[in-house]
Amino acid sequence: MSNVTLKNIEKRFGETVAVHKTDLEIKSGTFISFLGPSGCGKTTTLRMIAGLLEPTEGEILLGNQLVFSHEKHIATPPEKRNIGMVFQSYALWPHMTVFHNIAYPLKIQKKSKSDIELQVHTYLKLVNLSGLEKRYPHELSGGQQQRVALARALIREPEVLLLDEPLCNLDAKLRKSMRTEIKELQKRLNITTIYVTHDQDEALTLSDVVVLMNQGKIEQIDTPQNLTTHPKTPFAQEFLQSH
Ligand SMILES: Nc1ncnc2c1ncn2[C@@H]1O[C@H](COP(=O)(O)OP(=O)(O)OP(=O)(O)O)[C@@H](O)[C@H]1O
Ligand SMILES: [Mg+2]
Repeated sequence: MSNVTLKNIEKRFGETVAVHKTDLEIKSGTFISFLGPSGCGKTTTLRMIAGLLEPTEGEILLGNQLVFSHEKHIATPPEKRNIGMVFQSYALWPHMTVFHNIAYPLKIQKKSKSDIELQVHTYLKLVNLSGLEKRYPHELSGGQQQRVALARALIREPEVLLLDEPLCNLDAKLRKSMRTEIKELQKRLNITTIYVTHDQDEALTLSDVVVLMNQGKIEQIDTPQNLTTHPKTPFAQEFLQSH
């Protein structure tokens, strides 16, 4: 089953074409990365899937649900798409403690207080933040804030997880251990995951499938192994050599 389908998706900002007409099918449970240099359209594509940005053309399906269609004037808002998101900027609520930031999606779902307590503590542990639940975001380091964002995205067990350079503020050691944690979590929860990165190493070690992008177009969709051994375009060859 395809969990995320992009049909003929395009995004223009005035004269600039950020994403050229693109088709993409992401199978359920896949860990897929959008890899490519700065400005190639990774974030734009992710934001369109999330519903934070309207494509100028095309259709987007999440499972069987048509969440966007330019032609049919359908544009489902982000909160009605079954997705969890972590972006470059953490976007935590500054006036809420760690506990309440993570608990928020469950409160919206009107879960019981005891369920929320239990779940929040499970996810705090998962992202290695047990004991910090009473802190406010400004009392945390960048990496800790990013982990709060990750816990908040995961807690409602979304069907699709969207991650935009989620580890870019972490030091090298933490980055590696978080990588492993994200991967293990993804497997365990079997969440379709789209991971945006310009870090080749990260994309190749984490992903089942890598989408290599350049100037708003997909250059190659392949397994990490095939991409490394058989880069198909001159750009792919150069990109993989230079990193
Ligand atoms: N709101 C906007 N208005 C005009 N142009 C935009 C806007 N947002 C993005 N762009 C342009 O669209 C292109 C793709 O941007 P995008 O943010 O998707 O790149 P990216 O691959 O995520 O890059 P990075 O690795 O630097 O985050 C860029 O040329 C960018 O300048
Ligand atoms: Mg980006």
